[in-house]
Amino acid sequence: MLAELEQQYEQAAAALAAAEGREALEVWYRDTLGRKGSIYLLTRQVGALSAEERPAFGQRLNEVKAELQAAYDEKLALAEGAELQAQLAAGALDVTLPGRQPARGRLHLVTRTLRDIYRIFGDMGFQVYRSRDVETDEINFELLNFPPHHPAREMQDSFYTTTEGVILRTHTSGGQIRAMREYYPEPIRVVLPGMCYRNEQVTARSEMQFTQVELLAVGDDISFADLKGTLTEFARRLFGADRETRFRASYFPFTEPSAEMDISCILCEGAGCAVCKYTGWLEILGCGMVHPVVLRNGGYDPDKYFGFAAGMGPERIAMLKYGIDDIRQFWANDLRFLEQF
Ligand code: DAH
Repeated sequence: MLAELEQQYEQAAAALAAAEGREALEVWYRDTLGRKGSIYLLTRQVGALSAEERPAFGQRLNEVKAELQAAYDEKLALAEGAELQAQLAAGALDVTLPGRQPARGRLHLVTRTLRDIYRIFGDMGFQVYRSRDVETDEINFELLNFPPHHPAREMQDSFYTTTEGVILRTHTSGGQIRAMREYYPEPIRVVLPGMCYRNEQVTARSEMQFTQVELLAVGDDISFADLKGTLTEFARRLFGADRETRFRASYFPFTEPSAEMDISCILCEGAGCAVCKYTGWLEILGCGMVHPVVLRNGGYDPDKYFGFAAGMGPERIAMLKYGIDDIRQFWANDLRFLEQF
């Protein structure tokens, strides 16, 4: 009997040594120390032994059980530790890695340019006045003194709506009429921003939709000197303190006299380069004294009031400032372009 016990013990010890991992250990336990295990079953045989044999067998069996149990406990603890280590390693976080950058939005280049313009004119006392994108032909053209057959009124230049006499504004100048009619008889200093729409061939230099900023000042003592001073100061605050300006005579139906303002080239400082086409100057806006007919259409008596107006394109300004050569980039929504600013 004792011989069998020793044999079972050796087998069990060998099997335990070979068992790797928690599952294998549990199987081993069931087959040896468990209620139907080989070692446990030996206890049942004690009754079959003679009274002399029993104590020695019982003692040895208890020793064997205790040894196997201790060896099993030790191996199980090791296996559980290894399992935990493996789990930790699998879900490991490397806290030294740099975090992922969340995508951050930013203001569109035109929005930023608009805000620069608002800030500069705001500092000079001009308020932002919003006029409508959908405008009547009357306000967009007629009341601004456009002659009836002016080419800008042709079908191919304006986007017409299904409502007779209603178009998408082709410029922000119509806002002059709306502002005058609202403010009369007060003096006016407003900035009129907005999207404009023209049925034009889209090229690197012209888009079907673009923003404009209009400037309007009306009062009883406004002169061309105010226009020049205001716009020159604006150019210096936007493009740098040593910017030179020059005014060239021009023509717009709604101003008289009319002019275009150039700034000394911001790239070559007037020396001549490809951007200024070797003239040293960049055209930046149109302007002039508000035409008496337009003043009257806005409700102001042109014998008592004077005004100056100007119109500029933020896209063009941004193109010059940042060296952008294709106006189509602005509204193409290509993040590779937009994220550069
Ligand atoms: N409305 C003109 C355009 O669309 C721009 C302009 C020129 C506006 C002269 C003005 C101005 O107020 O005085 O091209």
